Amino acid sequence: GAADPAAGERIFAQCRACHQIGPTARNGVGPQLNGIFGRKAGSVAGFNYSPAYQALNKVWDEDNFRVYIRNPREVTPGTRMVFNGLRDEGQITNLIAFLKQYNAE
Ligand code: HEM
Repeated sequence: GAADPAAGERIFAQCRACHQIGPTARNGVGPQLNGIFGRKAGSVAGFNYSPAYQALNKVWDEDNFRVYIRNPREVTPGTRMVFNGLRDEGQITNLIAFLKQYNAE
């Protein structure tokens, strides 16, 4: 079906323990996720990324995010993001639609 950002917000509940998004978002256990699509990986000022992340040379887009979020630790060995990943492609589609709402500017 069509991407559903409200359903994606419910998926993002799994991310909120570590990530904030929106106008008041700050870095926490993980970096804030505003404008994630088109953002260079490992580039948020003031966030202390792992060496694995500091060595990344990629820009987040829907395709590489989709691969990453299925299994973060397999895609980026050494990452400090301890999250088992999402398996359901529909859930990932909805999550992307939610995240993109904060990609406006
Ligand atoms: C990094 C998304 C869950 C902790 C990232 C990045 C993205 C992301 C896109 C890369 C950020 C960048 O390059 O600036 C998500 C999403 C999640 C999720 C969508 C839920 C589906 C979590 C959870 C935790 C976490 C549950 C903590 C237990 C981190 C950390 C980093 C990170 C620490 C930096 C990794 C490093 O420096 O190695 N996350 N995340 N994330 N995330 Fe998550």
